[in-house]
Amino acid sequence: MKDIYILAIESSCDETSVAILKNGNELLTNIIATQIASHKRFGGVVPEIASRHHTEQISYCIEAALDSAEVAVEELSAVAVTEGPGLVGALLVGMTAAKAFAWAHGLPLIAVNHMAGHLMAANLPDSDGSIEYPCLALLVSGGHTELVYVASEGDYKKIGETRDDAVGEAYDKVGRVMGLTYPSGKLIDEMAHQGNDIYNFPRAMIKEPGYEFSFSGLKSAFINLVHNAKQKGEPLDKVDLATSFQAAVLDILMAKTKAALKEYPEIKTLVVAGGVAANQGLRERLAQEITDIKVIVPPLRLCGDNAGMIAAAAYTEYKKNNFVELTENAFPSLAFDVMDEY
Ligand code: KG4
Ligand code: ZN
Repeated sequence: MKDIYILAIESSCDETSVAILKNGNELLTNIIATQIASHKRFGGVVPEIASRHHTEQISYCIEAALDSAEVAVEELSAVAVTEGPGLVGALLVGMTAAKAFAWAHGLPLIAVNHMAGHLMAANLPDSDGSIEYPCLALLVSGGHTELVYVASEGDYKKIGETRDDAVGEAYDKVGRVMGLTYPSGKLIDEMAHQGNDIYNFPRAMIKEPGYEFSFSGLKSAFINLVHNAKQKGEPLDKVDLATSFQAAVLDILMAKTKAALKEYPEIKTLVVAGGVAANQGLRERLAQEITDIKVIVPPLRLCGDNAGMIAAAAYTEYKKNNFVELTENAFPSLAFDVMDEY
């Protein structure tokens, strides 16, 4: 049988990435051009700067991916691209490049939901597993926090999400108040292993039914505590602050995930993916508290944004001949439930 090569492009936020996946299970290359150094000084991603960097990088990344995978354009089976959710200008760069490339080389185009990408990163061999269905996914990133029920491959149904801040966003915002550089999730995670949970921050929605999350109250409680202490000239221990913040976050994530596993006992695999899945504290709690089903947390390099995960999700669509026209556009706020309508 002919080998299937999918070239995938990801440009939804601050990483320009191009990957080539062979037969759905061999990630030949996963080029990632990160823009973190540019956004750092602003304390967050500046959309216009992100778009400009994608424009500069995209052609080089495509060339570099083909070179490093040693795959000729003629061998490619399809082009895949993130169509949303993400920053509109950033998405448009990847979408336009993918459409032009597909048209120039007569290749079919696959449009991929960024969150489906995070989820399907778990299906790559480097994530140490193939997903068994039904599957539950806790997707935690800088832009999203959601629980997704996947009855069978590609059949995504969002069962809950944050009503305000995403968990990664909360990490980055409290990090800023602590004077940490952006993105601060990793630094807070490291500090959180050294202190004590003495501040007892609120655990919003934890006892309420359903799978909605809320992190803005936690963020505000943290910021108020720091500002009040500053005004009074009282010192605060940063390590204890980080430990207390992370304890509240993890209590919320674990409580909602465990409640969903209880409501859906048929679930065979729990996937925890997205940038915040790099969190060591979260990984430790998952290992300790969820022992009766398969848990897949992708390795660190597949947790952050990358095109390898987009290729993995695209392979599911490729098998279903789910291609889109070259009139396809980027959908900045595309979410799982909206996607069903297209
Ligand atoms: O998935 P991602 O690379 O980009 C988005 O799609 O948002 O996630 C980036 C987010 C940032 O908010 C960053 O602070 C957070 O992931 N992050 C972490 C850790 N590593 C990255 N949050 C908590 N603990 C970590 N170890
Ligand atoms: Zn992401």
